[in-house]
Amino acid sequence: MEFPDIESLFDRYVIGNYSRHPIAFVRGEGSLIWDSDGNRYIDLMPGWGTTVLGHCHPRVVTAVQRQAGMLLHVDNTFYIPPQGELARELSEKSFGGKCFFCNSGTEAVEAAIKLARLSKQDEGRFKIITMRDSFHGRTMGAITATGQEKYHRGYLPLLPGFAHTPMNDLEAVEEVVDDETCAVMLEPIQGEGGVRVADQEFMTGLRELCDRNDMLLILDEVQCGVGRTGEWFGYQHYGIEPDIMTLAKALGSGVPVGAMIARAEVAENLVPGTHASTFGGNPLACAAALATLRTIEQEGLLETCRETSEYLFGRLEDFREQFSFIREVRGRGLMCGMELDRPGLPIFQHCLHRRVRINCTHDTVLRLLPAVNVPRELLDHGLRVLLEALEKAEHGEI
Ligand SMILES: Cc1ncc(COP(=O)(O)O)c(C=O)c1O
Repeated sequence: MEFPDIESLFDRYVIGNYSRHPIAFVRGEGSLIWDSDGNRYIDLMPGWGTTVLGHCHPRVVTAVQRQAGMLLHVDNTFYIPPQGELARELSEKSFGGKCFFCNSGTEAVEAAIKLARLSKQDEGRFKIITMRDSFHGRTMGAITATGQEKYHRGYLPLLPGFAHTPMNDLEAVEEVVDDETCAVMLEPIQGEGGVRVADQEFMTGLRELCDRNDMLLILDEVQCGVGRTGEWFGYQHYGIEPDIMTLAKALGSGVPVGAMIARAEVAENLVPGTHASTFGGNPLACAAALATLRTIEQEGLLETCRETSEYLFGRLEDFREQFSFIREVRGRGLMCGMELDRPGLPIFQHCLHRRVRINCTHDTVLRLLPAVNVPRELLDHGLRVLLEALEKAEHGEI
């Protein structure tokens, strides 16, 4: 199908709730992706961080094909072997908790909110503190948790019982805790909010605060989890453990799957009838997720991620020294942000025009979330194009 035909299908039949670039991607392989006209792009933001192994990793494709030929779906009224195996892998790689499976990040967050409230309902505690500039998804609970007003507009009234405090400000959290607070939730690295990393002191302080007040610490690792930071999970950089963790994006390498992992004593509250998902943890999604975890493990990709990260942050720091309009380079692993003193959109657009895909978030932050196995020569090509865009921005040419 030619691009104009694809576009007219969207104009006529698809609700226009996304602003789309006039490109239709039809094939991908590793860190490369091709559009419907056969043009090749370097993808340094594959699937918004979803495609952590690059597009169509052969091990994931084979696992999905094998599972598709055996059993696509069965409901949760029966036992689903790959779901049990996936839960074991996640539990063993994290803090030994138990898993609930769903299909997206926002659903994992909803499950976490519900579990937190359920766990503390007997004590009359229902309030949850989250961070300003956070992003937790688009369902009603998740937008209420999200600390950005622009996502609330038009949807008032939101759920009662949420407060937002600034990231990395422990005192501000302490001030709003009261005897109705049941949990604190945050992203170890805020993604949509501009790639802001939680401080060590803040994270340790929150863990202690939660322990002192018998509150749950919920970490939303939908964007930073599953190998992206050079550890399996973002919290593992801090030497603390959450009570509940949410995952999605990278977990299925592009196959929709979300998960909430909770300490066993907390998880116990989710008894039959309290929460469910028709598709959650179905055989196809779990096969993709298992293949993702095993590939990261067997191909040593946490180590690869750390090495590439060191190189990439070195290059981005060089850019910061060269261009005074770059305010800060932030991130961890292969979750990188470059804050500018101006809108990042023209730089993003120039890169896309030159067939390199990056992202701009929070208006002024250029974001790169390359696959953890991105080949060095493709990364270098991408960085050359980014440099060219930065030079043009400096000379007012874009
Ligand atoms: C930290 C975080 N939580 C939740 C979500 C929502 O995930 P989904 O779009 O899969 O519902 C996102 C999506 O970007 C996210 O970055």
